[in-house]
Parts: sequence; C-alpha cells; structure tokens
Amino acid sequence: MKILNNGQLTILDIDKKVTLYGFVANKRKMGKLIFVDLRDRWGITQLVIKNKIKNFSKESILKVVGKVKERKDKNPNLKTGEIEIIVENIEILSFAKQLPFIIQDELEAKEDTRMHHRYLDLRRPIITNKIVIRHKFNKAIRYFLDNLDFLEIETPSLSKPTPEGARDFLVLTRKKDHFFALPQSPQIYKQLLMCSGFEKYFQIAKVFRDEDSRKDRQPEFTQLDLEMSYANEEDVQKIIEKMFKFVFKKLNKEIKIPFKRINYLEAIEKYGVDSPDIRFECFLYEVTKMFRNSSFNLFKNSSSVKFIHCYEILTKKQILQLKEVAMKNGSKNLIWGFIDNNYEGPAYKFFKNEMKLIEKKFNLNKGTFLFIGDNYKLTTKSLGAIRIKLNEFFNWTKNKNDELVWILNWPLFEYDENLKKYIPSHHPFTSPTKDSIKDFDLNKNKAKARAYDIVMNGYEIGSGSVRISNLEIQKRMFEAIGLNKQEYNQKFGFFLESFNYGFPPHAGIALGIDRIVMLLTNSKSIREVIAFPKNPNGIAVMEKSPTKIIEKN
Ligand code: AMO
Repeated sequence: MKILNNGQLTILDIDKKVTLYGFVANKRKMGKLIFVDLRDRWGITQLVIKNKIKNFSKESILKVVGKVKERKDKNPNLKTGEIEIIVENIEILSFAKQLPFIIQDELEAKEDTRMHHRYLDLRRPIITNKIVIRHKFNKAIRYFLDNLDFLEIETPSLSKPTPEGARDFLVLTRKKDHFFALPQSPQIYKQLLMCSGFEKYFQIAKVFRDEDSRKDRQPEFTQLDLEMSYANEEDVQKIIEKMFKFVFKKLNKEIKIPFKRINYLEAIEKYGVDSPDIRFECFLYEVTKMFRNSSFNLFKNSSSVKFIHCYEILTKKQILQLKEVAMKNGSKNLIWGFIDNNYEGPAYKFFKNEMKLIEKKFNLNKGTFLFIGDNYKLTTKSLGAIRIKLNEFFNWTKNKNDELVWILNWPLFEYDENLKKYIPSHHPFTSPTKDSIKDFDLNKNKAKARAYDIVMNGYEIGSGSVRISNLEIQKRMFEAIGLNKQEYNQKFGFFLESFNYGFPPHAGIALGIDRIVMLLTNSKSIREVIAFPKNPNGIAVMEKSPTKIIEKN
C-alpha cells in the first residue's frame, strides 16, 4: 500500500529512505541526470535519477525508492520545494502513450475533448482541487447538520413524477409499458418523513431534470435537501446561515451573517431579476411617467420605461451585444445615449428633453444610458440581463467578497404565457401566507407564498418554503393549478392520505450543491465541479449516452 504522498515530505525528512508512487508530470534531462516531477493528488515531489533506466513517457506511473535530500535550488511555490529524492530504485508500473492533451492547469483543449477523456482531465491539479473542495463542502455540511441532530435519510431514485416544473427522466421496467420516473427532488418523500416523526432530515441527494443545460444547470445534479418539523421560515434561514458560516470557515473563507434580505418585488424593480447579484449597483431606474407626454411614441406608449446607467462609455460593438441580450430576453426596444465630451446616441436624438430631465433628476452627467420601454416583465427582464452583461464587460465584481442574499415575499403563482394559466412560483406544496389562505385560489395574481430563495453572487443557490400541512388547503392548491379531484388523487393520493393521520407543520429548503461549489471555486461552469458531467447538450460524451433503445426479441 502507498504510505507517503507527493505533497508531504519536507526538510525535516532529510536522509529518510522513502517509497513514492505517482504520475510523471514532467521530465527534464540535464547532463547525465533526469529530473522528474512525480505527481499525485496531494502534490509534486522532485525526483533525481542518476542511473540509466528504461525510457518512460509523461503520465507513466512510477514506483520509486530513494533518499530525501535538501535541494540546492529551492522552489518556494511547492510544498515539497525544499527537498528532492535521489532515486535508488525505479519501477515503471504503467506506461502512458501520448495523451490527447497536456495535463496542466491552463489548457487550450476543447471542452468536448476534455470530457471525452474526463478521467485525464480530472488529473489536472486545478480540476482535482475542485473535486477536493466539493468533498470538503459536503463533509462540512454533514458534520454541521449531524451536530444539530439532523438525520441523513436516503429516499428512492425509482419513483413517481415529482412536480418541480421540468420534464421527467423515465426508467423502463420489465413490466410492459410501466416505468419509473427519476425524482426531480425528494420533495414529497421529505415531507412524508416529517409525517413519520423524524423532525429533522437532510440528504445529499442526486436529482434529475430533463431540461436544457446551461452553465449553471445539469440534467443530473445534487441537492442538499433539508426539512424540519415545527419550524418557520426564519428557523430554516438561520440554520442555513449558520451552516454557511461554518462551511466557509472550513474552506478558509469568510462570510458575514445574517445575510441581507430583499423582497421579491424589490429585487425585480431594482435589479430586474429574482436572483440579483448585489455585489454591484447599476440599478434599474424608473422613468415611465416622464415619457407620458413625450414625442417619442415608442416610450410614450410603453407601460414600463426604465434605464440603467454606467460611467463607462460603451463601444458600438458592446451596444450591439447588449441589443442581442435585450432581444433574447424579449425586448427589441433598447435605446442608448452617451455623455462623454458630447451628447451622443439615439436617446439624445429622439428624446433630448427627457434626457435633460433625467440627467438632472438622477444627477448623472457622464457615461452610458441604456433605456428599455416595453411591458413591465420584458423591461425588467431585459435590463436585468443587460446589467449582468455590463458586469461581464467591466468586471465590477472582480475581487469582491461573496454576497448571499435571501429573496422573500414571493408570489404564490406566476402566469405562464405559453400554457395560458397560473403555475406555482415554486411548487404546489408551498404554503400561502396567512393573508392569502382565504382566497389564494380565487385571487391567484395577488396570492403570496411563505417561500424564500437564497442567492449567491447572482445565482439562485437554494429555494425553500413553509409547506402546506392541512389537507383541505393542499387540495385547494391542486385545484388552483388546474388538477381536478381525479387527477390529484391519481398523482398524489398516497401523499394526501398521509394528511389524515397527524401531520406536523414543517418547512425546508434545498440547496444546489454543484452550483455553490462552482461559485466557491470560481469555475466557469457547473461541469467543472462534477466528476463526470453531461455536456451542454445533455450528452455524456465519454460514455456516449444516452443511447437508442434496441428492442430484444
Ligand atoms: P428548486 O427546484 O428551486 O427547489 O431546486 C433547489 C436548488 O437546486 C439547484 N438546481 C439546479 N442545479 C443544477 N442543475 C439544475 N438543473 C438545477 N435545478 C435546480 C438550484 C436550486 O435553487 N424541492 C424544492 C426545494 C424545497 O422546496 O425544499 C426544489 O427542488 O440551486
């Protein structure tokens, strides 16, 4: 068995005889000597080989026996940089052919090439480290929650559809035309565990959603799922805050608690999105009324006109990119204006008078103005996305501390333009607020939820709520989202039955572990922190799956 690793020998080990194993990360010939960097997941140790040996290539695997000596040229960037091993015996355990890409942190190789050989990609120290951080993150969560008497309980993966809003992955069974659905979350099971009396549950759970991948989304991902009986929204939030404090500390990071709290409506109004990056300002400013009597008809007739402003002067190319962002988010109506030495751009052409008033009202006398006039949803959504793009251009958040924020006071429902009906903003197990209980099913546009999201650096990292624990309210909720008695009994009858036998009030949350680790490791995508991820098209490029079903006769 391997006893020593390649990141641990120091000056204190001088003259010890040691056995090391690892990959050949690098190999240099200098006169009669060969210098090798021997790598494992803990680090690198320099070997000095004097005697002639068989040739071996990079990434081959060696077992060496040798003596620890002090180095002449020390390397302060390496944990083992003060020593080297004078090799006495060397064994090549495995030869490596030419690799498809070099094993190093900075790399040009395409992502699909890396993913095709993900086992090699994972050898790159920068990626290895992300997987190590993920392990530490999970370990710290488990330690923290165990100390608070939470129980880790596994729930089934072969299950029935769970309503989290995405498509289900289905699993065929031997019984003709019968299938399981993989869970989109353990939502119903964790609530049933409250009915069982476990009171404090958590699980690091694999869940599955067949939806488009994005840089922060995978079809198969991991949640920290948590539920508590006799708890309200503040109780859950406080535990999560303390947990973050603890976990951050374990990862040598600092975070201040309590986190900020912002109402959902304020987030949309100020940042244009329900998952705001509050590390920079660049707020949305409201100017609809100022255009009521304007000669610029596009804005005069828009129900919502807003703008954002930055002190930087954008290039024409950047403006074009922002127009694309607005279009993608549903609005064609981006109008820009500059104040540099001159007043420039369509804003000063089409509504110069309004611009003068705006400059004065908001005390802005330099920089770029970006306006959108549309309906409220499109105006806020487009400007919200532009705000994020501006940060991509100017990197305002570089070197800023992580910012976590709770988004509170959610609507219970949102109107789905495609389905032409109200759907739950979260899921149908979320309790209406006390004020909304009486008529949430009649006034869906006004009903409020006892829900809370947690957002980190502009990414939604978690979502939770106080749950419905009353049978009649749960039935009304199913009806409110368009399920009739037969439908909800067929889908959720087993769950509804449990309400008859004593169901404690309860609340919970689920955090997206992959997303949080992506942020903690400054990764460009969630794929970097998953050992074997799917590519952006939802395909496992290495195993080439999913594959076609072949009927066996
Ligand atoms: P929700 O659907 O908001 O809530 O999911 C919780 C968190 O999981 C993460 N997440 C994802 N991460 C990676 N890829 C995805 N495709 C993906 N989808 C979601 C996000 C999100 O905030 N049952 C409820 C929670 C509850 O009410 O307790 C639920 O699953 O970080």
